[in-house]
Amino acid sequence: MLATAHLSRSALLFLSRREGLKDVATRLGPLRELAGRFIAGETLEEAVQAVKALNAQGLMASFDHLNEAVRTVEETRAEVGEYRRLMTRIDQVGVRANVSLKLTQCGLLFDKALALENARAVVSEAASRGSFVRVDMEQSAVTQDTLDTVRALHAEFGEAHVGAVLQSYLRRTEADARALCAERVRIRLCKGAYLEEPRVAFPDKRDVDANFIRVMKVLLDSGVYHGIATHDERMIDATLDYAERQRLPKGAFEFQMLYGIRRDLQVQLAKTGFPVRIYVPYGKYWYPYFMRRLAERPANLWFVVKNMVKG
Ligand code: FDA
Repeated sequence: MLATAHLSRSALLFLSRREGLKDVATRLGPLRELAGRFIAGETLEEAVQAVKALNAQGLMASFDHLNEAVRTVEETRAEVGEYRRLMTRIDQVGVRANVSLKLTQCGLLFDKALALENARAVVSEAASRGSFVRVDMEQSAVTQDTLDTVRALHAEFGEAHVGAVLQSYLRRTEADARALCAERVRIRLCKGAYLEEPRVAFPDKRDVDANFIRVMKVLLDSGVYHGIATHDERMIDATLDYAERQRLPKGAFEFQMLYGIRRDLQVQLAKTGFPVRIYVPYGKYWYPYFMRRLAERPANLWFVVKNMVKG
């Protein structure tokens, strides 16, 4: 059973990187419908409506415009434009939300300087509005470049306007967490969602979880405002326990979860007075994001197969 789960995870993550499927998938009706559980819509307005509903339940949000692994300069410029529109709309509507951005969306896979320039434009817009940009973490091949870019932006705009993401499955993460905390960079800690070699990432879930708890403690000890991003109740309980033992006030950090996953837990945690932020992806290119969500839980795959056969 475990071996089958591992196989389907690897297969789904492999498929998530097939660029050619990005456009094809968006035209597949049943797949698109199922993706609707995890994606707030294809348009900015649909995402705004989803965030309004979350806000009404006491949940904050982070919008993410889906379009990773972008390959042309023009497309990266269009992404910057989308984020400017998004931040304008956040202010107009007055929703409680910030934004999340991927550097491969800004051109990191073919031009690092361009990616920095584009990300800088987005963070600059956020800073002028008193908002915050979380730079998502992608595959390990871009970890160092991503952290270098965040450090450059942090040096220019400060901790209130830009932050990083670290993944507990990576062997390097504890060292990165200690270094970034010393520099007062805000971190979102998650487990990690990409297909990685055992050389760079722990293959065993128990090690990923143990590292999550180790790094969570480093973050909570740092006095910087971080995000603990997980739906794993054991990770959440360990965080609540540690925060209580360290006598941290409820607003010292926030919990973060993904749109459409464990909605019960999202609301329950918010009701206890802890800040909770929901990651709200939207856009046409939902395919790789959707495949990573399927890979996280083999049961999701059976749900898809059942629905495709039925439909
Ligand atoms: P785990 O996978 O152990 O799941 C715990 C429980 O949560 C499951 O038992 C199930 O109940 C539920 N669950 C989790 N995933 C589910 C799914 N897909 N469908 C249904 N139920 C599910 N990754 C990354 O590499 N870079 C990034 O920048 C980010 N950003 C990010 C932001 C936020 C706010 C979150 C919450 C997560 C990310 N991630 C991410 C994804 C993260 O790395 C990880 O893959 C998922 O959060 C799943 O891990 P859990 O911690 O939930 O634990």
